[in-house]
Amino acid sequence: MSKSAPIHGQWSSPMVFVLASIGSAVGLGNLWKFPYLAGENGGGAFVLIYLLCIAVVGIPIMVSEVLIGRRGRLSPINSLALLAKQAGGSRLWRLVGGSGIAAGLIILSFYSVMGGWALAYVVRTASGLFSGVTAKGALSIFNYLVTDPERLLAWHTLFMLVTTLVVARGVRSGLEQAVRVLVPALFILLLVVVSYNLNSGYFMQSLHFLFFPDFQDITAGGVLQAMGHAFFTLSLGVGAMMVYGSYLPSGASIPRLVLAVTLVDTLIAMLAGLAIFPLVFANGLEPTSGPGLIFTTLPIAFGHLPGGAYVGTLFFLLLVLVALTSAISLMEPMVAWLVESLKLPRSRSAALSGFLVWLLGLVSLMSFSRWAFEFQFAGQLKHDGWFDILDILTSAIMLPAGGLAVVIFVGWVMPKQSLIEELGGRAGITFRIWYVTIRYLTPAAVSAVFLYMMGVI
Ligand code: PHE
Repeated sequence: MSKSAPIHGQWSSPMVFVLASIGSAVGLGNLWKFPYLAGENGGGAFVLIYLLCIAVVGIPIMVSEVLIGRRGRLSPINSLALLAKQAGGSRLWRLVGGSGIAAGLIILSFYSVMGGWALAYVVRTASGLFSGVTAKGALSIFNYLVTDPERLLAWHTLFMLVTTLVVARGVRSGLEQAVRVLVPALFILLLVVVSYNLNSGYFMQSLHFLFFPDFQDITAGGVLQAMGHAFFTLSLGVGAMMVYGSYLPSGASIPRLVLAVTLVDTLIAMLAGLAIFPLVFANGLEPTSGPGLIFTTLPIAFGHLPGGAYVGTLFFLLLVLVALTSAISLMEPMVAWLVESLKLPRSRSAALSGFLVWLLGLVSLMSFSRWAFEFQFAGQLKHDGWFDILDILTSAIMLPAGGLAVVIFVGWVMPKQSLIEELGGRAGITFRIWYVTIRYLTPAAVSAVFLYMMGVI
């Protein structure tokens, strides 16, 4: 029963799964969020903790999520329910799928607002607005955009509309070809900016900032955010990897596919850091300037590079498109569940989810303008407004908690034999390392970060 074909269809090959998962993983998280989080949290120590979390927490959880999806062959809620039933576990495990879906929708609500910023920047760069721009000019162009709710609303609406249409058509059509072109192109453009930076005299300073940890620079909140970001960037804890896993043909080696996805995702984030920080230092900007970082730095390079308007336009266009391939995967778990459980047609499920997310997006949209306010979270994370509340609630709390539940489920509830079956049929050394990791190391690491944040350790 557990090996039945998924009702939503299947990827035509394991390679398509890798491409779709890279499409999900690589997105605003790598280019927009990673640099500003690293900047806000002092650089090196944050990056090191983030990389450790990718290895100890991210990769093992991704294997577990894909495994649940492929074995259950259903949306996250129903796969978990089915596998829990088979293992004689509690019905409550389905709640893990449910809270993941909720987290995914919340994330999408602000993701779309940021996708809207990127859309706005396509037009701005194409119009030559940044030609010869100074750091001050770039900053005021950014502030002008984010304090204009009507304009933001238009871009957010457009972004959600496109996401909904693509999901309504079914995630598979076109995704493969798109990612095949998008990710290498993004890679090349990042290299263009990085090589522009090589001559700026601030490259070494940036390397030092990003890769030499000074643990005095990081707070407990920063540690939590580093772990949360490892989940966010790998699309974990929301069921995205479970749904994509549920469309994966049997027989493909899950660990190998997961490693490929993780490697590409991490590489893109590091390149983004090296594209952005030399510009920050060369122009006397603040690394701690927050979510606007990419939008106030890269345009300076595009304003001075020969042909920069073209390079810049293409860059922001790619940013929109990789955001879109991530947005699709944020919505898919909800849509798959609506199709399965409420028997709604795919188009109606997508429209319903899209509308909900659009509505919720208005909250984040306003947090940069009319409803702006600052808050403190456990005395640690000082931030501005609803966007940050939703971001911290999801990335730093819901995703790690969901991931923790997933490894406990796979490590302690599912029968070991079914895991061996799903991961190639024999308990070789890779299997044993993974199994010990998800049973002990991953849960211990996630719990330790939570306890550290709460001041218990
Ligand atoms: N991983 C995506 C990014 O880095 C965001 C995302 C999170 C997508 C969770 C799906 C699920 O941009």
